[in-house]
Amino acid sequence: MAAIENLQLNAQGKLQHFLSIEGLDQSLLTEILDTAESFAEVSKQSVKKIPLLRGKTIVNLFFENSTRTRATFELAATRLSADILSMNIATSATSKGESLLDTIRNMEAMQVDMFVVRHSLSGAPHFIAQHVADHISVINAGDGQHEHPTQAMLDMFTIRQVKQQFAGLRVAIVGDILHSRVARSQIHALNILGAEEVRVIAPKTLLPTDVESLGVSVFNDLDNGLKNVDVIIMLRLQKERMNSALLPSESEYFKCFGLSDERLKIANSDAIVMHPGPINRGVEISSSVADGPQSVILQQVSNGIAVRMAVMSMAMRNNEGGE
Ligand code: NCD
Repeated sequence: MAAIENLQLNAQGKLQHFLSIEGLDQSLLTEILDTAESFAEVSKQSVKKIPLLRGKTIVNLFFENSTRTRATFELAATRLSADILSMNIATSATSKGESLLDTIRNMEAMQVDMFVVRHSLSGAPHFIAQHVADHISVINAGDGQHEHPTQAMLDMFTIRQVKQQFAGLRVAIVGDILHSRVARSQIHALNILGAEEVRVIAPKTLLPTDVESLGVSVFNDLDNGLKNVDVIIMLRLQKERMNSALLPSESEYFKCFGLSDERLKIANSDAIVMHPGPINRGVEISSSVADGPQSVILQQVSNGIAVRMAVMSMAMRNNEGGE
């Protein structure tokens, strides 16, 4: 992993690519959150634009479906005055057999300054970052089951917005941890930022075997796991990544691991409910909880724009020798 850690930082230790949370330190994560805070104001103005990345060209390379992530990267780039092109890879040359590297070389020939990459293979954004010209930044928008660092940072931003600090917080991540790149990035971020405890709550079939080594406490029972919790992060069952049936049925899953109003009462009374989306109502979360007063799910989406503006502007600045 050392190569990945070094790859995302420039010679001064500043972020030039954003590939994973693992390997970054607390001051860098805090810098992202503080920078995002200044950008959150921009979205509230009637003219939602600042000229920071004027003249820069950003390409969204999404080899996997996305709604929120892709849209908020587009809006973030637009609000920074960059030009952004979103590639629909399903209908592009890749489906005609062009290799990933050839696709990248062709985009580079169009004088691109940044790639935002989502790929079903873990490590694809790192591979691209290793092969592009020095001045190009690469941002990971979710790679396989590895990491989804901007999602984790917008979640951290939302937690800090409501709870002010990470010290003393108990956070439970509930559901399909095994297939979740979001959970991996969140666990790293929460530990780096100093949360009191990170819990994962899931059936054994949906937990990676080495999950404790990430620095979490493990619960296989939702009622026990939710006791004294300040933040609950619900995850969708990622059926598209399951090779075999890991669960009996969706209704059985909701009975054991779904977040209902009754279940929510077990957590601290001021606990917040989060979800990276897309939500499956009635499978991992009831509609009344998703739309209820403790839910900050749509706040997460709004915060995604400011956090992505922060990451894109930091990476671009640090890739130009810190001007
Ligand atoms: C997540 C993803 O793609 O990893 N969604 C997202 O980016 N908002 C989680 C998921 O697909 O369940």
